[in-house]
Amino acid sequence: MSLGTIAAAVLGPTTMRILRSLTILLACAATACAAAAPGALAADGITRGSVYDDAPDNRYLLGGNWLFRLDTGGVGLTQAFQRQTDADGWKRTSVPNAWNAGDNSVPSMLGTVAWYRKDFRLPDARSRLDWLVRFESVNYRSRIWLNGRPIGRNTGAHLPFDLRLPRSVLKRSGTNRLVIRVDNRRLRTDFPPSGLTGSGDPAGGWWNYGGLLREVYLQRVDRVDLSSVLVRPELPCATCAATVLLRATVRNYSDRATRVSIDGRFGDLRAKLPTKSVAARSFASFERRVRVSSPKLWSPATPNLYRAMLTVRVGGRKVVAQTVHSGIRSIKVVDGRLVLNGKALALRGVGLHEDDLVTGNALTTPRREQIIAQAKEIGATIIRAHYPLHPEMHELADRQGLLIWSEIPVYAIKTQYLKRLEVRKLAARELEENIIANQNHPSILLWSIGNELSARPGPVQHNYINRAVRQAKALDPTRPVGLAVAGYPSAGCRPQYGALDVVGINEYFGWYPGPSGQIADRDALPEFLDSIRACYPKKAVMVSEFGAEANRDGPVEERGTFQYQQDFVNYHLGVIAARPWLSGAIYWALQEFRVRPNWDGGNPRPNSPIHEKGLLRFDGTKKPAWLDAQRLFKATPQLGAR
Ligand code: GCU
Repeated sequence: MSLGTIAAAVLGPTTMRILRSLTILLACAATACAAAAPGALAADGITRGSVYDDAPDNRYLLGGNWLFRLDTGGVGLTQAFQRQTDADGWKRTSVPNAWNAGDNSVPSMLGTVAWYRKDFRLPDARSRLDWLVRFESVNYRSRIWLNGRPIGRNTGAHLPFDLRLPRSVLKRSGTNRLVIRVDNRRLRTDFPPSGLTGSGDPAGGWWNYGGLLREVYLQRVDRVDLSSVLVRPELPCATCAATVLLRATVRNYSDRATRVSIDGRFGDLRAKLPTKSVAARSFASFERRVRVSSPKLWSPATPNLYRAMLTVRVGGRKVVAQTVHSGIRSIKVVDGRLVLNGKALALRGVGLHEDDLVTGNALTTPRREQIIAQAKEIGATIIRAHYPLHPEMHELADRQGLLIWSEIPVYAIKTQYLKRLEVRKLAARELEENIIANQNHPSILLWSIGNELSARPGPVQHNYINRAVRQAKALDPTRPVGLAVAGYPSAGCRPQYGALDVVGINEYFGWYPGPSGQIADRDALPEFLDSIRACYPKKAVMVSEFGAEANRDGPVEERGTFQYQQDFVNYHLGVIAARPWLSGAIYWALQEFRVRPNWDGGNPRPNSPIHEKGLLRFDGTKKPAWLDAQRLFKATPQLGAR
C-alpha cells in the first residue's frame, strides 16, 4: 500500500482532493516557474486517485512538476521533436495549464505550438501490468511521445482520450519521459472554427486557451480494464418502480482470453452481471437490470443520489472498480413542454464559460465550486456551456441540483465547412464521446448538437441534424436532443428542425440590431416568441440565451450601462414569464469571460477582450442586474408548473 493510498484511506476523498490541489499550487505557484535544466527534474507528483469521484479506482494523477516550452520550429515532426526535447529553456509548470492565460494579444488568440514534458516513474513496476495515459482536455491538436517514440494523437478539446503506453518502450523501473506537442492554431473546420471578423481580427466565441487544460492521469491495467460504465435508470412514471440498467464494457489488454466476472451494486441492491470470457485484445459488454421499487427521485429540488458500483474480477481477484453516483428521474418532451418526473418545467438559469482571470480555462476545484455556488445563489436550476464541462462540474451539478444543457462545440460553423466529411466525422465523434463520458449524470437534461449554425438551414444542416439526433437517440434513448439557434424573425418556420425535441432560441431583442435591424426593437420579442411556438407546437422551446453588456453606471437608455442591463433583464424575464409554454430561459452569461481581441459585444464602450454581459464581473463582484435576475428566478415556479 502506497503512502497515498494510506492517506486516502485515513483522510477521505474530499480532504485528499484539497491536499492534492495544495501540492500542485505549492509545486508551482505561477503558470511557469523558474527555468529548469532538462533532465534535472525528479520524477514526482504521482498521486493515487482522481480529482473527481466517479472514476475507476486504478487512476493516478500525473501532477507535480511538469516542463513547458514554446515551439521554436523545426522542419518535419521528428526533427521538431528532437529539437524541442534536446533544447534548454524548458520552464517548470503545473498541469492543468493554459499557457496563454492572461495574454490578451492577437497572436495569443490565433494560437501557436508548444510542448509539455513530464518525467515519471511507474507507481507499480510489476511486469504483468499495462499502463494508459489519459488526457481530460487538450486544446486543440496533440501528438504524444513516450521515451522518444510517438504513441498517438488527438484532435479537439473538452473530451477525454487515452493511449496505451507500449510495453516495448515503457520503462518498468527507470524514469519515463512523456512529451506532448500541443497546437492550438485554429482552422475554419475546427470546433469552434477560426475566422476573421469584419475588422480582420481573429473571430471566435471565446478565448483560444492553449494547453493541457484539464488533468492528465496514468491508468493501471491488470489484464482487463473498464472501458466504459453505464448506469441508466428508467422511470416509466413519477410514482412507478424504476429499472436500472448496469452495463460495463470491458477491454482485455492481454494476449489470452480471460474470464471476467462483475459484481454490480445500486444503492443497497446487489446484482451479479453474467460472467463471460473476453477474447484476447478485445472488448465485451456485460449487463444486468435491477428494479428499484420505490425510488427516491432526483430533481433540482431533491437531488437524491444512489451510489452504484461495478467491481471487475479475474479469477476471483478484483482488478478494477468504479463508483457512479446515479439519480433516478425521467425527462421527456410532452405536448411541447419539457417534463421532469411528470412535471412541466419552466427553468431559469445561466450560461457560463470555464474561465478564470488568472488560470484561464484551466480551473481548480475551488473555482469550479465557486461557479456552481454562484449559479445556485442566483436561483438557477439550469446551466449551459458551449462545450462539455469538466467532470467535476457535472458531479457538483448532480449533488447540488442543477440541470445541464450539454452541448458539443459545433459552434457557428459555416455551412460550406459543415458539409465536409471530416467535419461531420469529428462532430459525430464528439457527440458520441460526450454521451459516453457524461450520460451517467442525472444533471444532464439534454444533448445539444450545436449552437448558431446558419439561421436559415438548408439541406446540409438538415442532414447534420437528422444524423446527430439519430446517433444521440441510439446512444441514449432517455434524453431529448436540442439545438440552439439564433433568433431572427426572418428565419421563419424551419422544417429542417423536424427531428429535434428541443429548440433553443438565442434572442438578443433590444440589444443587437440583427440582419436589417430586425431585432433592434425589443417590443418585437413577444410576437417573435409566439411565432416560434406556432412553428414548433410539439417541441419544447427554451430561450437558450439572452443578455446585454454592462460595464458602467449611466442612463437607462444608454447601451452598456448597468441600468440598461437591469432594465433588459426585467423586460425579457417579464415577456418570458408571460409565456408559460416556454420550458425555460437561460441568461447569457453568469460571469464575464474572455472572448477575443476587439470584442465589443454590441457595447459602444467595450472593454475588449472581455465579454461583459455577465451578471458578475470577472472579479466576482455583482452587477445591479444580478439582484433582478435572482428575484425573478426565485419568483418563478420552475419545477412543476403543472
Ligand atoms: C452568441 C453566442 C455566444 C456569444 C453571444 C454574444 O449568440 O452563442 O457565444 O457570446 O452570442 O454575442 O454575446
